Amino acid sequence: MSRISVHDKSFEPYISAAAISGKVAEMAGNINRDYEGKKPLFIAILNGSFMFASDLFKVIRIDAEICFIKLASYKGTKSTGHVITAIGLDTDLFNRHVIIVEDIVDTGKTMNEFLPQLRYQQPASMKIAALLHKPQAMMFPLTIDYVGFTIPNDFVVGYGLDYDGLGRNIPEIYKVVS
Ligand code: IMP
Ligand code: MG
Repeated sequence: MSRISVHDKSFEPYISAAAISGKVAEMAGNINRDYEGKKPLFIAILNGSFMFASDLFKVIRIDAEICFIKLASYKGTKSTGHVITAIGLDTDLFNRHVIIVEDIVDTGKTMNEFLPQLRYQQPASMKIAALLHKPQAMMFPLTIDYVGFTIPNDFVVGYGLDYDGLGRNIPEIYKVVS
């Protein structure tokens, strides 16, 4: 694998497709174990998490449901600081065991604004599964219950993650060359 360009930036290989699928299987194994008999509801956050959610859900072996909502807080490589609900939730969360599926938790702002809206519906429990986590970028305190990879504060693309709309289709994760 070599460098690629997305818009005006150059990116280098960072996490291989094999490493991603191994990690996704490991996360699913933990969820299968923790949620046996609880019929959890996965809520995947579009757009970024579509690929992760799909691969994760394929290796969930217990009874489980999935739904999707669309939130956005990003423009280019910087957070705009605004979280917009573009497609809302159509499922009742009362008494459900909810697992939020995120591609990446960066500043934590998205989750910080969104979780109280969900708690209002009184789910039985609520946890977060994020493929990537950038602890150095964290500005809002948040517990991420299932983390795939902890990464430094570098901008990444691929596996659902975009840079201004492009790069989501890449099966591996690339990081920006600075
Ligand atoms: P937060 O609200 O700052 O935690 O940002 C969360 C959202 O920003 C994620 O769900 C991603 O869609 C996007 N994001 C954060 N970091 C990156 C990145 O390195 N590449 C692409 N998108 C990112
Ligand atoms: Mg996202």
